[in-house]
Amino acid sequence: MEQTYVMVKPDGVQRGLVGEVISRIEKRGLKVVALRMNVIAEATAKEHYGEHAARPFFPSLIEFITSGPSVSMVVAGKNAVKVMRAINGATNPVDAAPGTIRGDFALDVGRNVVHASDSPEAAVREIAIHFKDSEIGKYSRVDEVCLY
Ligand code: PPS
Repeated sequence: MEQTYVMVKPDGVQRGLVGEVISRIEKRGLKVVALRMNVIAEATAKEHYGEHAARPFFPSLIEFITSGPSVSMVVAGKNAVKVMRAINGATNPVDAAPGTIRGDFALDVGRNVVHASDSPEAAVREIAIHFKDSEIGKYSRVDEVCLY
């Protein structure tokens, strides 16, 4: 069962969209196996977004992500990385389709409500940044099926 890292960013928390995001994840059939609200430390934010360190928006991205509480999750399920990116929609909301979180709730790439890992490798790295193994739960959904 694949896992991915998902964050409701400070703008999503401040707009009361945490429940909406979790609801969409659960209704799709994915399951939340770890969950925390906290203000992400600057060092953690810099590690998380390290690949963008040289980009002009990096300082404002770090300032924004650490500016207030965000919600971090580990989300699990079949093809969780790809499915979660589809639920979120395109990074720049101007390109995000209606029906996606960003397509329904965002206008600006710097205030795009949610983050999700962009590959299985990134998911492993990001989950390890934000959660200890012991914080990730295991349970079955009653509607969970395993079709190959
Ligand atoms: S991508 O998918 O990596 O090509 O996307 P990219 O456009 O490079 O953006 C990477 C992440 O940086 C965020 N971003 C910004 N945050 C704050 N301010 C500004 N100006 C800004 N521009 C881009 C963007 O939302 C992406 O965040 P994540 O969390 O990965 O979605």
